[in-house]
Amino acid sequence: MSMLTLTATDRLYAEYVNRQWVRLLDVLQMNVPYIRCEGAELFRADGQRVLDFLSGYCVHNTGHNHPRIVSALRDELDRSGPVMLQSNVPDLAGELAYRLCESAGGRLQKAHFTSSGSEGVEAAIKFARAHTGRAGLIFTDRAFHGLTCGALSLMGSEFWREGFGPLLPDAKRIPFGDLKSLAAALSTKKYAAFIVETIQGEGGIRIPSSGYLQQAQALCRRYGSLFVLDEVQTGFYRTGCFLAAQHFGLDPDMVVLAKALSGGLVPVGAVLLTDDIYNSVYSSLKRAIVHTSTYSENNLAMRAGLATLDVLESEGLGARAISVGQFLRERLQTALAGYAMVKEVRGLGLFCGVEFQAPRSLTLRASFEAFMRIHPGMFGQMLVMQLFREGILTQICGNDFLVLKVAPPLVLQEAQVDEFVGKLAKVVESIHTSSSFWSEALGLARRVVSV
Ligand SMILES: Cc1ncc(COP(=O)(O)O)c(C=O)c1O
Repeated sequence: MSMLTLTATDRLYAEYVNRQWVRLLDVLQMNVPYIRCEGAELFRADGQRVLDFLSGYCVHNTGHNHPRIVSALRDELDRSGPVMLQSNVPDLAGELAYRLCESAGGRLQKAHFTSSGSEGVEAAIKFARAHTGRAGLIFTDRAFHGLTCGALSLMGSEFWREGFGPLLPDAKRIPFGDLKSLAAALSTKKYAAFIVETIQGEGGIRIPSSGYLQQAQALCRRYGSLFVLDEVQTGFYRTGCFLAAQHFGLDPDMVVLAKALSGGLVPVGAVLLTDDIYNSVYSSLKRAIVHTSTYSENNLAMRAGLATLDVLESEGLGARAISVGQFLRERLQTALAGYAMVKEVRGLGLFCGVEFQAPRSLTLRASFEAFMRIHPGMFGQMLVMQLFREGILTQICGNDFLVLKVAPPLVLQEAQVDEFVGKLAKVVESIHTSSSFWSEALGLARRVVSV
C-alpha cells in the first residue's frame, strides 16, 4: 500500500514509531481501525465485528474495557490522591500485594511491582543472584521471557536475539521437559535459578508431563538454586487456577506475573517472592530501595490490579476458563478431526493451541514446502490472515510457528466458541481442498518477505 493512501494515524505512526509494523499489517490485510472493544468483541470502523481469540497475548482475561475496571480507574483519578511521590508509602500497593500473595499461596509472601513482564523477569534474575550469590541461569528451549537484555538472555529462539548481543553470560539452555539435563546443570552449583514457564506459551502451548515441574522443583532445592515460574501468560485464571502452578501442586520460590493484572488498561506486573529472598535483597536500611522503578507502585496501576482481581473472583472466571476451555477443545477436536494437517488440539483452561503439521498428500506437500522455504512463519501467518478475513483475531506462537494460539478473554460465551470453531474449520477445509488458498498465500508470502 502506498504511503499516500494511509490514514493520518497510520502516517504518523509509520513516520515516528515503526514503519515496518504498518507495512506488515497492510500486507496481511489486518490494518483496520477499531472504534470500540467490549468483552471478546472488537468493532471495526467499517461496521464489521471481530472476535478476539488472542486477548493481546493474555492481557484481556477480564474482557476488553470491563465496566467495573473502567469505573474503578475513573474513581481513582477523581480522588486526586498522592501518586508517585516516591517519598511516601503508596496507598494501594500493600493491599494488592496481600491479595496476590493470598491467591498464590505457598511461601510467596512478598510482591515486587513492575510495569511489564520483562521487567519482572529482570527483577527475578537480580533477586535470584542476590539470594544465592551465584550468577548462572537455566532456561528452556522455545522459552519466551521477554525482550530486555536479561530476559533475552533466557530466550529459547535465536530469532529474537540476533544483533542484540552480547547478552548475559552463564545462561544455559536445556530442553523443556528434560530432567537429566536440568540435573546435570544444577549439580555444578553455578546456577542461581531455573526459570521456566509453567506451560510454555510462545513455545507452542506446551503442557509439561505430569511430574516434570515437581521434580524440577525438587532438583532446584537439592542443589540450592531457585525455582522461578514465569506465569506472565498463564497467571490470573487463564488456565483455570489463579496460577497454572496450582494445577501441578508446585511451591515456587518466585513467580513472575504481568499482562492480565492490568485489566487490559494500565500496565502492571508483579514478582511474588518468599520472605527469605526479600531479606537477601532488601537486607538493611541502606538497601531499602536497592531495586525499584519509578512507575511500579503507582495508584492507577494498583487500582487496575485490585479491580481486575475483583472481577476475576466475583465473576468466577477461573471456573469459566475450565468449563468453556473444555467445551472449546472438544468442539475443536470434533471439527478438525480427520484433517491431515491438524496434528493436535491441546490446552488447559482457555490457554489452548492447535498444532499443524506438513501435509501427507504430495500436491499439498509441495506447496507447504515452498511456503516453508520462503519463511518458516509464513504458513501460520496465512492462517491468521484467513481467519481475520472471517472476523477472528488470533496469532501463531512466537517460538513455534506451526501452533495457532487460541486464548480468548475468559468472559467468552459458548455461542462465540461455536462461531470461532465454525470459521476455523472453514479455513482448515480450504487449506486441504482449495488450490486458491495456496496460490494466493504463496503470492502474499513472497510480498511479505520482500517488504
Ligand atoms: C511468558 C512471558 N514472559 C514474559 C513476557 C514479557 O512480557 P512483557 O512483554 O510485558 O515485557 C512475555 C511476553 O509475551 C511472556 O509471554
